[in-house]
Amino acid sequence: MKAEIIKMLKERDGYVSGQELCDGFGVSRTAVWKVIKQLQSEGYEIEAVRNKGYRLVEMTDVLTEAEIASCIKGSLIGSRVVYYDETDSTNTRAKALAEEGAPEGTLVVAEQQHAGKGRRGRGWSSPPGTGIWMSMVLRPDILPSHASMLTLAAALGVSQGIYRVTGIMPSIKWPNDLVLSGKKICGILTEMTTELDTIQYVVVGMGTNVNMEEFPEEIAKTAWSLYLESGRKWKRGPLIGAMAQELEEYYRKFLEARDLSLLKEEYEKRLANMNRPVTVLAPGGNYEGICRGIDSQGQLLVEREDQTLCRVLSGEVSVRGIYGYV
Ligand code: BTN
Repeated sequence: MKAEIIKMLKERDGYVSGQELCDGFGVSRTAVWKVIKQLQSEGYEIEAVRNKGYRLVEMTDVLTEAEIASCIKGSLIGSRVVYYDETDSTNTRAKALAEEGAPEGTLVVAEQQHAGKGRRGRGWSSPPGTGIWMSMVLRPDILPSHASMLTLAAALGVSQGIYRVTGIMPSIKWPNDLVLSGKKICGILTEMTTELDTIQYVVVGMGTNVNMEEFPEEIAKTAWSLYLESGRKWKRGPLIGAMAQELEEYYRKFLEARDLSLLKEEYEKRLANMNRPVTVLAPGGNYEGICRGIDSQGQLLVEREDQTLCRVLSGEVSVRGIYGYV
């Protein structure tokens, strides 16, 4: 009911009458008033006028389960929202929930992570109040070897969500970092649990730097935020809502084709590496070439000097002259 009331207040230009809320939810006026009081204490400025009802005047950057749920528009990603004020890692929580049978689309969000995980065993700085730390549970009927493609689809979803809310379109550093001004604003960590050759669940964790004004010294050279890019602060609820909706859209397209063929064109448009020199840091030795996009499996296509085309499955690709962080 709380999320529904927030939604109604946000969507209404004028007042929502107390009677409408009572009738709509089949509850007493006192019960409605209690929720309004609670919302006011959480940071929603709600005007209450006798004989007119309630009107949302302003709100702070509230991050609660009800606020997030009120911003969800799709039917899959965010169909269930689990929120923590503080947790170890939303990926760890999402995996535990998935083990307990959480349905596909469950979205786990935290205000703060004290053991945020990055790729390659690194940590992920996740302070409170400024970022979006969230993980989604997926249960795709695909081969485990195809799961890495989900990460590329997720990069598209997050960047499109950011664009819809802010008008800023981040580029993608293959396979899944989002960058602005040559620095990283979002990282994605995909973890999977399989049984024999079947996926039990995939957890896709996404960390987006939203309102940070500065970063810890260790990452200051490579990290960036939407605030630093745009010079203004953004409310995280609507951003999460837009990201969830776009993630759902791209996930459905991925499932339809069972690969990235329906997403390839869009991905390449946003690929920061496209037609630029890249250095492939491969286990068998580094080599250089020109990035020519991705194939439908999400492998990076790198044209070498002798014109042969290499397909890069995993490993780090560094782009000369663009990024400070590789
Ligand atoms: C990277 O190294 O680029 C991946 C970073 C992924 C961070 C996100 S924040 C939400 C989710 N929970 C985690 O512990 N990690 C991911």
